[in-house]
Amino acid sequence: MKVAVTFPIPEAAKVLLDEMFECRVWESDAPIPKDTLSLWLAEVQGVLTTLTCPLSEEVLTGAQNLKVISTVSVGVDHIDIDFAKRQGIGIGHTPGVLTDSTADLAVGLMLAVGRRMAEGDALVRAGAWSDGWKPNLLLGTDLSGSTVGLIGMGPIGQAVAKRLKGFGCHVLAWNRTPREVAGVEFTDLETLLSRADIVSLHTALTDDTRGMISRERLGLMKDQAMLINTARGGIVDEMALVEALATGRLRAGLDVYAEEPLPLDSVFRSLPGCVLLPHVGSATERTRRAMFELALANLVAGMQDEPLPAAL
Ligand code: DGY
Repeated sequence: MKVAVTFPIPEAAKVLLDEMFECRVWESDAPIPKDTLSLWLAEVQGVLTTLTCPLSEEVLTGAQNLKVISTVSVGVDHIDIDFAKRQGIGIGHTPGVLTDSTADLAVGLMLAVGRRMAEGDALVRAGAWSDGWKPNLLLGTDLSGSTVGLIGMGPIGQAVAKRLKGFGCHVLAWNRTPREVAGVEFTDLETLLSRADIVSLHTALTDDTRGMISRERLGLMKDQAMLINTARGGIVDEMALVEALATGRLRAGLDVYAEEPLPLDSVFRSLPGCVLLPHVGSATERTRRAMFELALANLVAGMQDEPLPAAL
C-alpha cells in the first residue's frame, strides 16, 4: 500500500513508514504544488499532511483510492471535510496532545503584550537602555486581577481558564454550545467583548466562525483591551484589527494570521502594541513528538481499515 507525505518528515518517522508502506515524501520546505499533490493522491491509500497543505475538493477529486487523511494538527480547516467524508475518506487529527502547550503560549502572549516584553527586549538589544531603572520605563498592564474573556471553551479554552485562575483573573467565557465550568462566568459574545480587558480566541475556524471577530465586535472592546489569537487568523477581521492597533485603541498578541507566513509587506509588522509570533502554539519538543505519534497512529489505523485513535 502507498502513502504520500506532503512535508519533510523526521528520518525516524520515515524509516518507520518505509517498513510498512511504499512512501513518497515531499522533501522540500516549499509547499508541494497542487498538481503534484493531485498526481500523488491519485496513487495512494493514505496521506500524512499538515495545515500548510490545503486538501480541497479539487485536489481530492482524483484521489479514488484514498482511505485516510492524517493531519499533524488539531485544526482541520485546510481540509474539505464534507467532501472527504462523502468520498468515505477517514480523517485523523491530533486533539488533546497540544492543549497545554497552546494554553501556555496564549497566557505567555497576554503577559508579553501587557508587560511590553518585546519592546523591552528590543530596547536592551539596541543599546538604548541608557538610564538604568526609571520610574516610568515601559509601564504596562497587569494580567493579575484582570478580566479575561475566552471565546471557545473546548479543551484549550478550559486549559487557559485553569491557568488564569492562578493569576486571580475574573474569567468570562462564550461557547457555541452552552457549558458549565467552575469559576468561569459564561456570557453572550457582546457582553464578553465589552467587559474583558483581554479577549483570547480558542475556537476552530469553520464557516460559522470565519470573520466572527468583526469590525463591529472589535468596536465593542474596551479602549486598550488586548486581543490574543492562538487559534486561526481567519476568525478575525484583520483589516479592522490593523486599524484599531494603528490608532493605539487596542493591543494584540498574535500567533496566527489569515495568510501564513505573514507577507513581507504586512502592515502588522510596523504596528505598535502588538507581539507577533510565527504560529508556534504547539511548538515544544514534547508536544510535537506527541502530535507526530498520534498522526502516525491515525495513518496506520486508517490504512488497515481500523478505527482511527483520533478521528474527526
Ligand atoms: C493545530 O494543530 O491546529 C495548530 O494550529 C498547530 O499546531
